[in-house]
Amino acid sequence: MTTAIVGVGNIGSAVARHLVTGGESVVLAAKGASRAEELADELGPLAHAASVRDAIAGADTVVFAVWLDTMRELIPQVAPLLDGKVVIDPSNPIAFDEKGRIVRSLPEGQSAGSVAAALLPANAHYVKAFGTLAAEVLAANANRTPRRAALFYATDDESAAATAERLIRAAGFDPVKAGGLAAAGRIEAPGGDLHQFGSDGEVVDLDQARAAVNDAHP
Ligand SMILES: NC(=O)c1ccc[n+]([C@@H]2O[C@H](COP(=O)([O-])OP(=O)(O)OC[C@H]3O[C@@H](n4cnc5c(N)ncnc54)[C@H](OP(=O)(O)O)[C@@H]3O)[C@@H](O)[C@H]2O)c1
Repeated sequence: MTTAIVGVGNIGSAVARHLVTGGESVVLAAKGASRAEELADELGPLAHAASVRDAIAGADTVVFAVWLDTMRELIPQVAPLLDGKVVIDPSNPIAFDEKGRIVRSLPEGQSAGSVAAALLPANAHYVKAFGTLAAEVLAANANRTPRRAALFYATDDESAAATAERLIRAAGFDPVKAGGLAAAGRIEAPGGDLHQFGSDGEVVDLDQARAAVNDAHP
């Protein structure tokens, strides 16, 4: 099984590094080739670099580790290649105001997940995952001891859920389902109660995460 990681910035590089450490094969792509090639060289034989189209075509699962606006441009260009594939979306509805402060890029109540899922062909398998921690926290918390850190995911699709669980475990975290696509906003920032920024920066373990899912904070 190969996972394409499209975008090798803060989130994409952390996910790629964790998956390779967990024994997963990855193919890396970005807008420019050089960072994907550098990272693939650094990660060794389980990683290689490709163009965005070739990376998607050769993978079973695609992580779009790019900004939501990039997804809006990119996914329509590659949509036929996503037929039958699991698509993992870590995006948050984040923009910055003129003072550099984080603001929502979408209206209240509309999740980035609902926007990303609507871009996909009908037979792609969508799941929101790998976006619930700040990138540096995601990078630093794989295989945490004595209790692994939890990562939430949200999907309506059983095969996407199974893939997300497998990859989250391979990456060194415990998977916890927040709910279906309608729950995507709970694991996004700003505003989601299950996102790290909605829980005062705390990185929760499996028991804390399960309790939080059932704790219906408005
Ligand atoms: N940063 C965080 O703490 C954090 C936490 C949770 C979730 N997220 C979410 O994760 C996503 C990625 O965030 P990030 O911080 O990792 O972003 P980033 O560091 O800015 O990286 C963006 C990546 O997207 C690539 N890219 C841009 N346009 C592309 C295109 N047309 N085709 C292919 N690749 C393209 C860039 O490639 P080039 O470098 O070649 O341009 C770069 O590798 C966002 O949706 C964000 O909301 C981020």
